Amino acid sequence: MLKFDAVFIGAGAAGLFAAGIAGQAGLKVLVIDHAEKVAEKIRISGGGRCNFTNRDATPANFLSENPHFCRSALARYTPQDFLSLVQRHRIGWHEKHKGQLFCDESSDEIIAMLLRECEQGAVTRWQPCSVAAVRHGTQGFELDTSAGVVATRHVVVATGGLSIPKIGASDFGYRLARQFGHRIVETRPALVPLTFDATQWAPYAALAGVSLEVRIAAGGGKARTEFLEDLLFTHRGLSGPAVLQISSFWRPGQALEIDLTPQLDLAPQLRAAKTGSRKQVGTELAARLPDRLAQAWLAEAPELAGRPIADVKDKDLDALAHRLQHWTLTPSGTEGYRKAEVTAGGVDTRELSSQTLESRRVPGLHFIGEVVDVTGWLGGYNFQWAWASAAACARAL
Ligand code: FDA
Repeated sequence: MLKFDAVFIGAGAAGLFAAGIAGQAGLKVLVIDHAEKVAEKIRISGGGRCNFTNRDATPANFLSENPHFCRSALARYTPQDFLSLVQRHRIGWHEKHKGQLFCDESSDEIIAMLLRECEQGAVTRWQPCSVAAVRHGTQGFELDTSAGVVATRHVVVATGGLSIPKIGASDFGYRLARQFGHRIVETRPALVPLTFDATQWAPYAALAGVSLEVRIAAGGGKARTEFLEDLLFTHRGLSGPAVLQISSFWRPGQALEIDLTPQLDLAPQLRAAKTGSRKQVGTELAARLPDRLAQAWLAEAPELAGRPIADVKDKDLDALAHRLQHWTLTPSGTEGYRKAEVTAGGVDTRELSSQTLESRRVPGLHFIGEVVDVTGWLGGYNFQWAWASAAACARAL
């Protein structure tokens, strides 16, 4: 039987990164992945350019039932640490808005970098290879794999979340966690487009392709969360960064509130536009909103359409402005794991060490990356969690 110090299940962002660190520290390391190709999510990430971290990442950018858990790992492996590695590998990068760092050329460069780091650590990689069973062995664990039985002191589960099953996502990590007595925080698609009933959406379906900056909010009271980001209308509902961000906080049945002119106080502007203007309401709206959106909005208010703004009462303009700045609508659901960028929920962090990502129940068993109940916002945060949790685990093996 082949023996290793550590076996990593999942050769994605977290698994490859951790394996490289552990191998370079002198451990005998095996990485197993059931997919044909490594790190497919890195390949498709960031529109093919991999938004590999966020310069401004803090624990506040992550959701979890145990919000403080991510602090330790994030503090000990920072966005700057990963950027330094990218620079050492001479990968060109640039910053987009809000601290998001992308490759200049291609996300393949990040994959190649992780594989080089694994080579430098003499990491063994089996792929495609499946794991049928994991059990306690004489000195740690034994794994039945499609390439034979292996023994190891440490098993590190890095199988990611459930999103995009067609490129290798599976529930393996959650099943293994349950097998060893771990609780799973209920999983749900996150960073995902939201959908609406066909009849409710009919007035807006023709707006597919319209995009604009909005302020979007979900939840009430202390739980209210809002983002200022771009919104995209689609045939079935809403997408774009604004909706992906809020989707992680949205719960079924909740309404969203959208301010379609977040940079303007619309009511006083429309009132002021009455003075000396013979323009129609629609023309004035189209000066402040995408034209198609302004027209669709007025189609819902036929009493205003086609009228000169000067003839409209202040209170009617105020009501129009209020509807545009407090558009309230309730999604019927999400596009699901097929379209979600990440899975919220996962292995309950209250049963893991925040220092080493090791199970408190089963010494030698570790969970890193997205399989854990730590979910980042849109914008490079999820990769930063993959790198940081991987480093915390691998340095402690
Ligand atoms: P990851 O999913 O990377 O790897 C898991 C690995 O485990 C896979 O290789 C899989 O094949 C393997 N596996 C699964 N089940 C297995 C089994 N039973 N046996 C063996 N192997 C198994 N984040 C970000 O920060 N910036 C971005 O730009 C993007 N963009 C983006 C775009 C799209 C379309 C998606 C779907 C996601 C993103 N993300 C992102 C999210 C990011 O890709 C994700 O959070 C990380 O890849 C998670 O890293 P992990 O290593 O945990 O899982």
